Amino acid sequence: MGEKPVRRIMSRKRAAVLISGRGSNLQALLEAKQDAYEIVLVISNNPDAPGLAIAGAAGVEALAIDHKPFGKDREAFERAMDAALSARKVDLIALAGFMRVLTPFFVRGWEGRLVNIHPSLLPKYPGTQTHQRALEAGDSEHGCTVHLVVEEVDAGAILGQARMPILPGDTPEALAARLLPIEHELYPRCLAALAQSSE
Ligand code: GAR
Repeated sequence: MGEKPVRRIMSRKRAAVLISGRGSNLQALLEAKQDAYEIVLVISNNPDAPGLAIAGAAGVEALAIDHKPFGKDREAFERAMDAALSARKVDLIALAGFMRVLTPFFVRGWEGRLVNIHPSLLPKYPGTQTHQRALEAGDSEHGCTVHLVVEEVDAGAILGQARMPILPGDTPEALAARLLPIEHELYPRCLAALAQSSE
């Protein structure tokens, strides 16, 4: 007699997305058709971020937690975010154009569950102006990286990368525009893989 197959129930991970602006990666994470995660919360440190409306249109709770009233107390700002994330039982956090450097308090608290997308082929060009720096270096290719967030900026373990050629006549703006749809394909795939691996 055959035994009944044991079906493993995979629970969808509860993901939050942190943004500061446009939110096109948020949109891609929301639209991706996969079962590994669901986005339950979006937080923006910028109350005017267009991405907040993207969350609202998708029926996802969106919070503006403005960093400015916290002044230089970065940790107090992060404690406010942390409280909101914990209250919603968030499992994973995706930074998507979130333009605040996070302190060890937040990074350690979410270690292994906090990811970022960065517009360069890390370890090349951590920080800002990545497209311009790739052009100035005479690189023949460029790309984006999804990585775990650690205390050192843009230095955590790489979960995935996608590449594209740099073409004659490319400008920083042209590179940014051509890279964006590549980011949108890479990020949901990497977040889903992390969600599956943390079963
Ligand atoms: C994206 O290109 C992302 O890679 C970059 O900001 C843009 C956000 O666009 N992130 C960083 O530079 C992080 N250091 P979006 O708001 O439309 O997703």
